[in-house]
Amino acid sequence: MRTIDDLDVSGKRVLVRTDLNVPLQDGRITDDGRIRASVPTIKKLLDRGARVIVCAHLGRPKGEVRPELSLAPVAARLGELLGADVAFASDVAGDSARATAEGLADGQVALLENLRFEAGETSKDDAERGAFADRLAALAELYVGDGFGAVHRRHASVYDVPRRLPHAAGDLIAAEVAVLRRLTEDVERPYAVVLGGSKVSDKLGVIDNLLGKADRILVGGGMVFTFLKAQGHEVGKSLLEEDQLDTVREYLRRAEDSGVEFVLPVDVVAATAFAADADHEAVPADAIPADRLGLDIGPESGELFASRLADARTVFWNGPMGVFEMKPYAQGTRAVAQGLIDSGAFTVVGGGDSAAAVRQLGFDEDAFSHISTGGGASLEYLEGKTLPGLQALED
Ligand code: 3PG
Repeated sequence: MRTIDDLDVSGKRVLVRTDLNVPLQDGRITDDGRIRASVPTIKKLLDRGARVIVCAHLGRPKGEVRPELSLAPVAARLGELLGADVAFASDVAGDSARATAEGLADGQVALLENLRFEAGETSKDDAERGAFADRLAALAELYVGDGFGAVHRRHASVYDVPRRLPHAAGDLIAAEVAVLRRLTEDVERPYAVVLGGSKVSDKLGVIDNLLGKADRILVGGGMVFTFLKAQGHEVGKSLLEEDQLDTVREYLRRAEDSGVEFVLPVDVVAATAFAADADHEAVPADAIPADRLGLDIGPESGELFASRLADARTVFWNGPMGVFEMKPYAQGTRAVAQGLIDSGAFTVVGGGDSAAAVRQLGFDEDAFSHISTGGGASLEYLEGKTLPGLQALED
């Protein structure tokens, strides 16, 4: 894969695909991790005299202009972090984008409006996507792919534009791929994987693949209740994916056959409602009351998980252990984050939610070996899938 050091960018218009898909609340950015992660590549290009046109998506507007998903607040934050003015185009590849791109001088930067305001960006129809990619590519002379969080999407700005322009991978993508290689090609053992988040159906591919690779798989978060149910326990009103029970049973069987240790919680924080002020208590994982729902792993499980991480040499973690945004249900996620740190292992935190969790819970990002900007992307990489955005940069 070519890197930006292989491109002569001085005086050239360079389209940089980044992942600036940050969480917003009432128009305010609640976690700017992805914006900060995009800065080094942009800065490097500006320092080399490039005219940088940044493009990114926000949310899933499905081809419609949705003002609440405008990238304008992101442009402002990017400007603060770069210490430079960021010109903002009020469309994606129309008159405003063209005028903004043409108005850039060497060492200046602009951000285009949300790519997903254009239906062509995410279209499954090659011709529609291609037509949009043509318009986007016409804005620039070179392309840099640096939106790691979106490389698993076969979208115009990720997959089709690099086929139309001389291209290279940005430093963020290069760093992310180097870390993921270390997890797949040359892993130091014991290798423990912690999986959480709400849906087991999002994690099937990765569990399938990890059953042949990891030494231990620790499961928490909303997805764990499907595992507990598969073991024959009552889960009350907890999140449950009935249609995945057979698959999960099969995974537990395969793990046993292949000597992979599956670690499930022994207790759960069960609440009367999905609310911070609901009545809640820790109960044994096999005795969740019928009228309660589990919103976090319990304190004994936090200790158990930390103990199963203590001697690991490599840990990959994706997905919070509970509803960490609500204080009473943050303890499990906190315990796992601390367990990663205390292990002294090569630790990788994968994904938007878990990365936001460690920051929101006040952990020092430097205490982890790597915090990935890509959730779905890192999971698909670990599944062994070909990622369209990486494939396009390699061609
Ligand atoms: C993410 O948030 O994981 C990436 O930005 C990709 O977003 P998407 O899942 O909406 O494609």
